[in-house]
Amino acid sequence: MPRPALRAPGPAGAPEPAARCESCLCTDKLRGTMVAPDTGDETMRAATAEAMDRPDCHLETVTEVEHYTDRLFRFRTTRPASLRFRSGEFVMIGLPGGEKPVFRAYSIASPNWDDALEFFSIKVPGGPLTERLQKIVPGDGLWVKKKPTGTLVLDALAPGRRLWMLATGTGVAPFASLVRDPETWEKFEEVVLTQTCRTAAELRYAEEIVAGLAEDPLVSELAAGRVRLYTTVTREPHPRPMRITTAIESGRLFSDLGTAPFSAGTDRVMICGSMEMLRDCRALCLAAGLTEGSNARPAEFVVERAFAG
Ligand code: A2P
Repeated sequence: MPRPALRAPGPAGAPEPAARCESCLCTDKLRGTMVAPDTGDETMRAATAEAMDRPDCHLETVTEVEHYTDRLFRFRTTRPASLRFRSGEFVMIGLPGGEKPVFRAYSIASPNWDDALEFFSIKVPGGPLTERLQKIVPGDGLWVKKKPTGTLVLDALAPGRRLWMLATGTGVAPFASLVRDPETWEKFEEVVLTQTCRTAAELRYAEEIVAGLAEDPLVSELAAGRVRLYTTVTREPHPRPMRITTAIESGRLFSDLGTAPFSAGTDRVMICGSMEMLRDCRALCLAAGLTEGSNARPAEFVVERAFAG
Protein backbone atom coordinates (compact mmCIF):
# COMPACT_ATOMS: atom_id res chain seq x y z
CA MET A 1 0.00 0.00 0.00
CA PRO A 2 1.55 3.38 -0.93
CA ARG A 3 2.57 5.54 2.00
CA PRO A 4 1.14 9.02 2.04
CA ALA A 5 3.08 12.17 2.74
CA LEU A 6 2.92 13.39 6.31
CA ARG A 7 0.82 16.26 7.51
CA ALA A 8 0.85 17.93 10.86
CA PRO A 9 -1.89 16.56 13.09
CA GLY A 10 -4.48 19.19 13.91
CA PRO A 11 -6.52 19.52 17.08
CA ALA A 12 -9.90 17.81 16.97
CA GLY A 13 -12.74 20.22 16.42
CA ALA A 14 -10.40 23.04 15.40
CA PRO A 15 -12.20 25.81 13.56
CA GLU A 16 -11.95 25.58 9.82
CA PRO A 17 -9.68 28.09 8.15
CA ALA A 18 -11.49 30.86 6.29
CA ALA A 19 -9.74 30.26 3.00
CA ARG A 20 -10.90 27.48 0.75
CA CYS A 21 -8.55 24.53 0.60
CA GLU A 22 -7.22 23.34 -2.71
CA SER A 23 -9.61 20.41 -2.99
CA CYS A 24 -12.82 21.55 -1.31
CA LEU A 25 -15.31 23.18 -3.62
CA CYS A 26 -18.03 24.15 -1.23
CA THR A 27 -17.20 26.45 1.66
CA ASP A 28 -19.83 28.91 2.79
CA LYS A 29 -17.53 31.79 2.09
CA LEU A 30 -17.21 31.07 -1.59
CA ARG A 31 -20.69 29.74 -2.06
CA GLY A 32 -22.26 31.15 -5.14
CA THR A 33 -19.14 32.98 -6.19
CA MET A 34 -16.82 30.22 -7.16
CA VAL A 35 -16.17 29.16 -10.68
CA ALA A 36 -16.15 25.47 -11.36
CA PRO A 37 -12.77 24.32 -12.63
CA ASP A 38 -13.04 23.17 -16.21
CA THR A 39 -11.75 19.64 -15.95
CA GLY A 40 -13.41 18.68 -19.17
CA ASP A 41 -15.18 15.95 -17.25
CA GLU A 42 -18.97 16.19 -17.37
CA THR A 43 -19.53 14.24 -14.17
CA MET A 44 -17.13 16.32 -12.14
CA ARG A 45 -18.53 19.52 -13.66
CA ALA A 46 -22.04 18.52 -12.62
CA ALA A 47 -20.77 17.56 -9.16
CA THR A 48 -19.02 20.90 -8.83
CA ALA A 49 -22.23 22.73 -9.67
CA GLU A 50 -24.07 20.57 -7.13
CA ALA A 51 -21.45 21.50 -4.53
CA MET A 52 -22.72 25.06 -4.49
CA ASP A 53 -25.93 23.78 -2.88
CA ARG A 54 -24.13 21.64 -0.33
CA PRO A 55 -22.24 23.88 2.07
CA ASP A 56 -22.18 21.13 4.71
CA CYS A 57 -19.93 18.98 2.52
CA HIS A 58 -16.51 18.84 0.97
CA LEU A 59 -16.39 17.53 -2.58
CA GLU A 60 -13.36 15.26 -2.74
CA THR A 61 -11.83 13.25 -5.58
CA VAL A 62 -11.32 9.50 -5.55
CA THR A 63 -7.62 8.73 -6.07
CA GLU A 64 -7.38 4.97 -5.64
CA VAL A 65 -9.71 1.96 -5.49
CA GLU A 66 -8.80 -1.62 -4.55
CA HIS A 67 -11.23 -4.51 -4.55
CA TYR A 68 -10.44 -7.37 -2.16
CA THR A 69 -13.38 -9.69 -2.71
CA ASP A 70 -16.81 -9.47 -4.27
CA ARG A 71 -18.01 -8.05 -0.91
CA LEU A 72 -15.17 -5.74 0.22
CA PHE A 73 -13.13 -2.88 -1.21
CA ARG A 74 -11.16 0.11 -0.03
CA PHE A 75 -10.72 3.51 -1.63
CA ARG A 76 -8.78 6.68 -1.04
CA THR A 77 -9.74 10.26 -1.76
CA THR A 78 -8.19 13.68 -1.52
CA ARG A 79 -8.55 15.28 1.91
CA PRO A 80 -9.67 18.83 2.53
CA ALA A 81 -7.00 20.63 4.53
CA SER A 82 -9.69 21.94 6.85
CA LEU A 83 -11.05 18.48 7.78
CA ARG A 84 -9.84 17.65 11.27
CA PHE A 85 -10.66 14.36 12.96
CA ARG A 86 -9.42 12.06 15.68
CA SER A 87 -8.20 8.65 14.56
CA GLY A 88 -11.10 6.20 14.93
CA GLU A 89 -13.88 8.69 14.13
CA PHE A 90 -16.46 8.35 11.35
CA VAL A 91 -17.86 10.79 8.84
CA MET A 92 -20.91 10.83 6.56
CA ILE A 93 -20.12 10.26 2.89
CA GLY A 94 -22.23 10.25 -0.25
CA LEU A 95 -21.98 10.33 -4.02
CA PRO A 96 -22.78 13.33 -6.19
CA GLY A 97 -25.21 12.97 -9.03
CA GLY A 98 -28.07 10.99 -7.53
CA GLU A 99 -31.59 12.37 -7.51
CA LYS A 100 -31.63 12.44 -3.70
CA PRO A 101 -28.12 12.00 -2.27
CA VAL A 102 -27.77 9.10 0.13
CA PHE A 103 -25.29 9.59 2.97
CA ARG A 104 -23.90 6.84 5.16
CA ALA A 105 -21.53 6.96 8.11
CA TYR A 106 -18.12 5.56 7.32
CA SER A 107 -15.22 5.16 9.70
CA ILE A 108 -12.15 6.93 8.40
CA ALA A 109 -9.55 4.18 7.97
CA SER A 110 -6.60 6.51 7.50
CA PRO A 111 -4.87 8.09 10.50
CA ASN A 112 -5.41 11.74 11.30
CA TRP A 113 -1.97 12.78 10.00
CA ASP A 114 -2.54 11.34 6.53
CA ASP A 115 -2.82 13.63 3.49
CA ALA A 116 -5.53 11.41 2.03
CA LEU A 117 -8.75 9.88 3.36
CA GLU A 118 -9.17 6.12 3.23
CA PHE A 119 -12.37 4.09 3.58
CA PHE A 120 -13.02 0.34 3.74
CA SER A 121 -16.44 -0.62 2.47
CA ILE A 122 -18.80 -3.51 2.04
CA LYS A 123 -20.69 -3.93 -1.24
CA VAL A 124 -24.37 -4.51 -0.58
CA PRO A 125 -26.27 -5.63 -3.69
CA GLY A 126 -29.01 -3.06 -4.17
CA GLY A 127 -27.67 -1.03 -1.20
CA PRO A 128 -28.78 2.62 -1.33
CA LEU A 129 -25.16 3.85 -1.35
CA THR A 130 -22.85 0.91 -1.91
CA GLU A 131 -24.55 -0.24 -5.11
CA ARG A 132 -23.10 2.90 -6.75
CA LEU A 133 -20.11 3.34 -4.45
CA GLN A 134 -18.61 -0.01 -5.42
CA LYS A 135 -18.35 1.26 -9.02
CA ILE A 136 -16.29 4.38 -8.27
CA VAL A 137 -13.02 4.89 -10.13
CA PRO A 138 -10.18 7.40 -9.67
CA GLY A 139 -11.32 10.85 -10.71
CA ASP A 140 -14.89 10.43 -9.42
CA GLY A 141 -16.26 12.84 -6.81
CA LEU A 142 -17.22 11.97 -3.23
CA TRP A 143 -19.18 14.07 -0.74
CA VAL A 144 -17.58 14.14 2.69
CA LYS A 145 -19.60 15.91 5.38
CA LYS A 146 -17.72 18.36 7.52
CA LYS A 147 -18.23 16.98 11.02
CA PRO A 148 -16.43 13.72 11.84
CA THR A 149 -17.43 12.21 15.18
CA GLY A 150 -17.44 8.98 17.15
CA THR A 151 -16.65 7.21 20.40
CA LEU A 152 -13.99 4.83 19.14
CA VAL A 153 -11.27 7.25 20.10
CA LEU A 154 -8.37 7.13 22.53
CA ASP A 155 -9.89 10.04 24.47
CA ALA A 156 -12.80 7.81 25.54
CA LEU A 157 -10.54 5.27 27.23
CA ALA A 158 -8.98 5.51 30.67
CA PRO A 159 -5.22 4.78 30.78
CA GLY A 160 -4.38 1.09 30.51
CA ARG A 161 -1.63 -1.30 29.48
CA ARG A 162 -3.08 -3.46 26.69
CA LEU A 163 -5.52 -2.24 24.03
CA TRP A 164 -7.82 -4.80 22.40
CA MET A 165 -9.49 -3.85 19.12
CA LEU A 166 -12.34 -6.26 18.32
CA ALA A 167 -13.67 -6.08 14.74
CA THR A 168 -15.89 -8.02 12.39
CA GLY A 169 -15.87 -7.34 8.64
CA THR A 170 -15.53 -3.64 7.77
CA GLY A 171 -15.54 -2.87 11.50
CA VAL A 172 -11.77 -3.04 11.23
CA ALA A 173 -11.70 0.39 9.49
CA PRO A 174 -11.37 2.63 12.59
CA PHE A 175 -8.62 0.35 13.88
CA ALA A 176 -6.73 0.72 10.60
CA SER A 177 -6.69 4.41 11.52
CA LEU A 178 -5.78 3.95 15.19
CA VAL A 179 -2.88 1.50 14.72
CA ARG A 180 -1.26 4.05 12.40
CA ASP A 181 -1.58 6.86 14.94
CA PRO A 182 1.52 7.37 17.15
CA GLU A 183 -0.74 8.40 20.04
CA THR A 184 -2.00 4.81 20.31
CA TRP A 185 1.56 3.66 20.89
CA GLU A 186 2.25 6.42 23.37
CA LYS A 187 -0.79 5.44 25.44
CA PHE A 188 -0.56 1.63 25.31
CA GLU A 189 2.25 -0.87 25.72
CA GLU A 190 0.59 -3.47 23.55
CA VAL A 191 -2.19 -3.66 20.94
CA VAL A 192 -4.12 -6.76 19.89
CA LEU A 193 -6.27 -6.30 16.78
CA THR A 194 -8.81 -9.07 16.21
CA GLN A 195 -10.94 -9.50 13.13
CA THR A 196 -13.58 -12.11 12.41
CA CYS A 197 -14.72 -12.56 8.81
CA ARG A 198 -16.71 -15.08 6.86
CA THR A 199 -13.72 -16.09 4.69
CA ALA A 200 -9.94 -15.82 4.91
CA ALA A 201 -9.86 -13.63 1.78
CA GLU A 202 -11.80 -10.98 3.69
CA LEU A 203 -8.97 -10.66 6.21
CA ARG A 204 -6.50 -9.32 3.66
CA TYR A 205 -7.06 -5.62 4.33
CA ALA A 206 -6.28 -6.00 8.05
CA GLU A 207 -3.33 -8.25 7.29
CA GLU A 208 -1.87 -5.63 4.97
CA ILE A 209 -2.44 -2.81 7.45
CA VAL A 210 -0.65 -4.66 10.25
CA ALA A 211 2.17 -5.88 7.99
CA GLY A 212 2.53 -2.32 6.67
CA LEU A 213 3.24 -0.97 10.15
CA ALA A 214 6.82 -2.24 9.80
CA GLU A 215 7.41 0.35 7.04
CA ASP A 216 5.17 3.07 8.43
CA PRO A 217 7.00 6.40 8.52
CA LEU A 218 5.55 7.37 11.89
CA VAL A 219 4.89 4.22 13.88
CA SER A 220 7.25 1.51 12.61
CA GLU A 221 9.59 1.86 15.58
CA LEU A 222 6.84 2.44 18.11
CA ALA A 223 4.78 -0.57 17.00
CA ALA A 224 7.66 -3.02 16.58
CA GLY A 225 7.04 -6.11 18.70
CA ARG A 226 3.98 -4.55 20.32
CA VAL A 227 1.18 -5.38 17.87
CA ARG A 228 -0.57 -8.67 17.23
CA LEU A 229 -3.29 -9.54 14.73
CA TYR A 230 -5.64 -12.34 15.78
CA THR A 231 -8.03 -13.50 13.08
CA THR A 232 -10.92 -15.95 13.03
CA VAL A 233 -13.06 -17.19 10.14
CA THR A 234 -16.59 -18.54 10.36
CA ARG A 235 -17.71 -19.85 6.99
CA GLU A 236 -14.84 -21.89 5.64
CA PRO A 237 -12.14 -24.12 7.15
CA HIS A 238 -9.57 -22.17 9.19
CA PRO A 239 -7.22 -22.82 12.13
CA ARG A 240 -9.56 -20.68 14.27
CA PRO A 241 -13.02 -21.45 12.87
CA MET A 242 -15.14 -19.39 15.25
CA ARG A 243 -16.51 -15.96 16.08
CA ILE A 244 -14.34 -13.80 18.34
CA THR A 245 -17.08 -13.99 20.96
CA THR A 246 -16.61 -17.77 21.13
CA ALA A 247 -12.83 -17.33 21.37
CA ILE A 248 -13.31 -14.93 24.29
CA GLU A 249 -15.92 -17.02 26.10
CA SER A 250 -13.93 -20.24 25.78
CA GLY A 251 -10.70 -18.52 26.81
CA ARG A 252 -9.06 -19.59 23.55
CA LEU A 253 -8.19 -15.98 22.62
CA PHE A 254 -6.19 -15.56 25.80
CA SER A 255 -4.51 -18.98 25.75
CA ASP A 256 -3.53 -18.52 22.07
CA LEU A 257 -1.94 -15.16 22.88
CA GLY A 258 -0.57 -16.06 26.30
CA THR A 259 -2.38 -13.22 28.05
CA ALA A 260 -4.69 -13.06 31.03
CA PRO A 261 -8.43 -12.55 30.33
CA PHE A 262 -9.78 -8.98 30.18
CA SER A 263 -9.12 -7.16 33.43
CA ALA A 264 -10.25 -3.67 34.42
CA GLY A 265 -6.80 -2.96 35.83
CA THR A 266 -4.83 -3.46 32.62
CA ASP A 267 -7.06 -3.98 29.59
CA ARG A 268 -8.98 -1.55 27.40
CA VAL A 269 -11.30 -2.72 24.64
CA MET A 270 -12.66 -1.05 21.50
CA ILE A 271 -15.45 -2.82 19.62
CA CYS A 272 -16.67 -2.28 16.04
CA GLY A 273 -18.94 -4.55 14.03
CA SER A 274 -22.57 -5.44 13.42
CA MET A 275 -25.23 -4.57 16.00
CA GLU A 276 -25.33 -8.17 17.20
CA MET A 277 -21.56 -8.34 17.50
CA LEU A 278 -21.53 -5.07 19.47
CA ARG A 279 -24.21 -6.37 21.80
CA ASP A 280 -22.42 -9.68 22.40
CA CYS A 281 -18.94 -8.19 22.86
CA ARG A 282 -20.32 -5.48 25.11
CA ALA A 283 -21.90 -8.16 27.31
CA LEU A 284 -18.57 -9.99 27.52
CA CYS A 285 -16.77 -6.79 28.56
CA LEU A 286 -19.39 -6.05 31.21
CA ALA A 287 -19.13 -9.63 32.46
CA ALA A 288 -15.36 -9.16 32.79
CA GLY A 289 -16.00 -6.16 35.03
CA LEU A 290 -15.13 -3.43 32.51
CA THR A 291 -17.09 -0.16 32.42
CA GLU A 292 -18.26 1.42 29.16
CA GLY A 293 -16.60 4.76 28.33
CA SER A 294 -17.52 7.78 26.24
CA ASN A 295 -15.97 11.04 25.16
CA ALA A 296 -17.45 12.70 28.23
CA ARG A 297 -16.50 9.93 30.62
CA PRO A 298 -13.46 7.82 29.64
CA ALA A 299 -13.56 4.25 30.96
CA GLU A 300 -12.49 0.74 30.09
CA PHE A 301 -14.24 -0.14 26.83
CA VAL A 302 -15.98 1.67 23.97
CA VAL A 303 -18.38 0.58 21.25
CA GLU A 304 -19.10 1.85 17.73
CA ARG A 305 -21.24 0.55 14.92
CA ALA A 306 -19.74 -0.63 11.62
CA PHE A 307 -21.72 0.86 8.81
CA ALA A 308 -22.98 -0.70 5.61
CA GLY A 309 -24.63 1.01 2.66
P1 A2P B 1 -21.11 -15.76 11.13
O1 A2P B 1 -20.58 -16.24 9.82
O2 A2P B 1 -21.18 -16.85 12.17
O3 A2P B 1 -22.40 -14.99 11.03
P2 A2P B 1 -20.89 -10.18 8.17
O4 A2P B 1 -20.05 -10.44 6.96
O5 A2P B 1 -22.25 -10.78 8.12
O6 A2P B 1 -20.90 -8.74 8.57
O7 A2P B 1 -20.15 -10.93 9.37
C1 A2P B 1 -18.79 -10.74 9.59
C2 A2P B 1 -18.36 -11.75 10.61
O8 A2P B 1 -18.94 -11.43 11.87
C3 A2P B 1 -18.80 -13.17 10.29
O9 A2P B 1 -17.68 -14.01 10.45
C4 A2P B 1 -19.88 -13.42 11.30
O10 A2P B 1 -19.98 -14.76 11.71
C5 A2P B 1 -19.41 -12.60 12.45
N1 A2P B 1 -20.48 -12.31 13.41
C6 A2P B 1 -21.78 -12.11 13.14
N2 A2P B 1 -22.47 -11.86 14.26
C7 A2P B 1 -21.59 -11.92 15.28
C8 A2P B 1 -21.71 -11.76 16.69
N3 A2P B 1 -22.87 -11.50 17.27
N4 A2P B 1 -20.58 -11.88 17.42
C9 A2P B 1 -19.40 -12.13 16.83
N5 A2P B 1 -19.23 -12.30 15.50
C10 A2P B 1 -20.31 -12.19 14.73
